[in-house]
Amino acid sequence: MSAGSALLNPMEAATGEPREAPLRDSLRDSYGRAITDLRVSVTDRCNYRCVYCRTGNDGAQYAELAIADYLRMIRLFVSLGIEKVRLTGGEPLLRAGLLDLVREVAQLRTVSGAPLDVALTTNGHLLADLAQPLKDAGLCRVTVSMDAVDAETFAAITRVPRSFERVLAGIRAATAAGLGPVKVNCVLLRGFNDSQIEAFAEFSRREGVIVRFIEWMPLEEPSADGIGRNWTREAVVTLDEIVSRLQAYRPLLELPPHAASETARRYTFDDGVGEIGIVAPVSRPFCGHCSRIRLTSDGKIRTCLFSQTEHDLQGKMLRGSSDLELRAYIKGIVDKKEARHHIGEPDFQKPSRSMVHIGG
Ligand code: GTP
Ligand code: 5AD
Ligand code: SF4
Repeated sequence: MSAGSALLNPMEAATGEPREAPLRDSLRDSYGRAITDLRVSVTDRCNYRCVYCRTGNDGAQYAELAIADYLRMIRLFVSLGIEKVRLTGGEPLLRAGLLDLVREVAQLRTVSGAPLDVALTTNGHLLADLAQPLKDAGLCRVTVSMDAVDAETFAAITRVPRSFERVLAGIRAATAAGLGPVKVNCVLLRGFNDSQIEAFAEFSRREGVIVRFIEWMPLEEPSADGIGRNWTREAVVTLDEIVSRLQAYRPLLELPPHAASETARRYTFDDGVGEIGIVAPVSRPFCGHCSRIRLTSDGKIRTCLFSQTEHDLQGKMLRGSSDLELRAYIKGIVDKKEARHHIGEPDFQKPSRSMVHIGG
């Protein structure tokens, strides 16, 4: 071991990324990462069949819990230091009882007594009518997945006719309801929607939303029939490519991160109008600062998007464990959180579920 590597903490050694001192009083893994961000899937059903995510042949595969069960789990996590709860799916707006869940979660307070950051990731198809009720229930903000700003390209990706108009109306309704800053997530796939980069920059400037380009990860449902797409490194449009395309469109300025654990690198243009984020888990992994833990729709804890194993929190609850026992169980699981993903490496194994069944 060199003198330099002897100074690294285990996380630095595992990822090569420098780290600051861990926070006190929080759920912490064995690498010293504070886990403050819980993502809860409330259904693995989805009304879209995006080519990079689903084959479109299979529907829901996992159970949904009663809203009261998600709530008990979320309370336990919040009592252990979670500060941000993101509701996801599948498509969470399909879930009956979602507004009740938001209403209850919005009442919770962090261990230091602050309001929770309650966010939702949606495909936006049903958002136009639900934006105001969600805001009224206490939701803080939404992220909408939208992979093209051209209606035809969009429908070719989602495989749902007239989907673009609905999502656009959803985004505008969310902004009007005060669920901003609205983030618009675009997963780029070479040959499908990489033509849209400049148009998305314009969209951000025109609509006042944060557009985030995401590198495609190997989390799709495997496709044998060629209708969906299987991940290849070549299909990933990398951060470097996106930055140089945007620079050619208009000079870019990098913005400082809000937090070390932020997934996106942030940019604006020379006139300060528009905000672009680039989430680059493939070319610039951010695992060294990961603050996330996930709950699947059927009540399993996943410590990493790419976990090979899950932990049956719902099973423990059904067997009558007390809150005290469940808290100890969660702490033990967080302690074993994986160091990082292995995308693109020879030892890479796809996770036990695809993205739509894990939760985005
Ligand atoms: P904020 O709450 O606004 O900070 O958003 P976020 O960055 O957590 O949100 P979002 O749900 O929009 O996530 C953006 C994208 O980043 C997701 O769609 C994933 O593609 C990717 N992503 C989110 N979390 C993880 C993670 O833990 N690991 C990896 N590798 N990718 C992630
Ligand atoms: N790689 C990266 N992002 C993905 N998403 C879905 N599948 C993938 C993938 N394989 C994104 C969606 C949405 C969020 C839930 O996750 O586009 O924005
Ligand atoms: Fe965290 Fe795993 Fe995502 Fe890396 S791949 S950022 S460790 S959840």
